[in-house]
Amino acid sequence: MLKMMGRLCFAHKTALAPMVRVGTLPMRLLALDYGADIVYCEVRMDIYTHTCHISVHLNPMHVLETVDFVAPDERVMFRTCSKEKGRVVFQMGTADPERALVVAKLVENDVAAVDVNMGCPKEYSTKGGMGSALLSDPEKIEAILSTLVNGISKPVTCKIRILPTLEDTVNLVKRIEKTGVAAIAVHGRMKEERPRHPVHCDYIQAVAESVSIPVIANGGSSDIVKTFEDIEKFRAAAGASSVMLARAAMWNPSIFRQQGALSVDEVMEDYIRYAVRYDNNPFNTKYCLCQMLRDRVESPFGKRLHAAQTNEEICEVFGMTDFYNKTKAELEARKAALQTNGDQTEQPKHEDDLITMPVRFERRDYPPQITPKMYLLEWSRKEKLDQPVYETEQRTQDRAFQSTVIIDSKKYRSALWEKSKKFAEQAAAIVCLRTLGLPEGRIGEEHSGLVNKRKRDDKKCAALDDSESAARKRHTSEVPQEEEEEMICRTKVVNGVCGQTTG
Ligand SMILES: Cc1cc2nc3c(=O)[nH]c(=O)nc-3n(C[C@H](O)[C@H](O)[C@H](O)COP(=O)(O)O)c2cc1C
Repeated sequence: MLKMMGRLCFAHKTALAPMVRVGTLPMRLLALDYGADIVYCEVRMDIYTHTCHISVHLNPMHVLETVDFVAPDERVMFRTCSKEKGRVVFQMGTADPERALVVAKLVENDVAAVDVNMGCPKEYSTKGGMGSALLSDPEKIEAILSTLVNGISKPVTCKIRILPTLEDTVNLVKRIEKTGVAAIAVHGRMKEERPRHPVHCDYIQAVAESVSIPVIANGGSSDIVKTFEDIEKFRAAAGASSVMLARAAMWNPSIFRQQGALSVDEVMEDYIRYAVRYDNNPFNTKYCLCQMLRDRVESPFGKRLHAAQTNEEICEVFGMTDFYNKTKAELEARKAALQTNGDQTEQPKHEDDLITMPVRFERRDYPPQITPKMYLLEWSRKEKLDQPVYETEQRTQDRAFQSTVIIDSKKYRSALWEKSKKFAEQAAAIVCLRTLGLPEGRIGEEHSGLVNKRKRDDKKCAALDDSESAARKRHTSEVPQEEEEEMICRTKVVNGVCGQTTG
């Protein structure tokens, strides 16, 4: 019973459907503002998301007040914020119960529910056994859904397409219901059918009559739902508890507005406000705006939008430069305030021979090719101390790293976990340098002259074991200078978890 408290309920709701590229944070927030009860994110494949780490505090995310799920290649796979916390559903593409569970556990604290995509007919889904390919493998469906239902504390749902016969469709949803899912979204088209084909409300109705969990009707955008009132018409025609809209909301998300839809021009401005506030990828911003422009995309205005490369340029096209500048100034001010507060809390904490401080390594705060680790190494040489030794551990829940640097028999560590081993080592070096009152190479800091010796020291340090210099040669042409610097140091990674590095 306790498990049910505060859980998202799927009965009598209107939802923004999952939509690749469209269902990013600005669109979801906008749909909620206009009246949607639930918002689904774009489908995220488990193969890309299971290796994500969570980034909550890093700038600029901390400034943005978002939680980001970041892939190893630094792409933000899913960005969310507290505004949508109780109402956002994370949709995944998966064909593997165990991997699905890893992803679900990763996101469960920051989402209201987890959904499994069982309707995508695109080859990139089906060739891996995902999306609509699952519809012909009910055992796999049961394995995935039961694993998720038993493995996470949040509701689990799925979104299916209908099967070629009513009987098969009803049999499938009955099996799905037994897994313990909280709701089923039914796109009333078969996997071979395209959006231009009429939606089969009779199938959705038969499904709704055969299960006791809420059924969410989907597929009514082109032929039925043109206005807010039509949402109820579609729900009634499909005999469903709830309705989910994709294209109608993509064209104008204010369709969720009880008082009537707003003009698309007004909606686009609202969209841009969220896009700027949450630093949305400009190409994604442009894509969503183009969907709203529809046939105006080829107009001179559409062409100007198409030419914009940044959110700032998009704002220019919409005459929103003042808004852009004001929002950026606010974000900068918040960043400055955070840094000031951060400095106040940055008092070193001593525990035996370990000194900790809550600091992060921000690459943008240092000139290219300069890092705190270099400063610490050069200082140790100047003082004729042994080279700093870095010990790193990785925690399992979010794969974040924490490093401890040992120098002169003392240990220094940042209290915060970092998204990469490299950053964790730099953060440890910062703690050491700040505790000792030494320069660390930050932009604007008084120049210490230490780094001038870098090239000479690099050479010395490069006289390392053979395997390492081989690895370095392999990478030299393709890695930036800062990563190269990491490679001149001794690294031992045990089970991909712990490492020891000197330098
Ligand atoms: C641009 C776009 C992207 C979509 N991406 C997804 C997706 O990520 N996951 C999913 O389950 N369905 C996806 N769909 C399908 C929709 O969720 C929905 O099932 C379909 O468009 C029918 O609903 P509608 O008539 O309201 O548009 C997408 C549809 C569109 C138009």
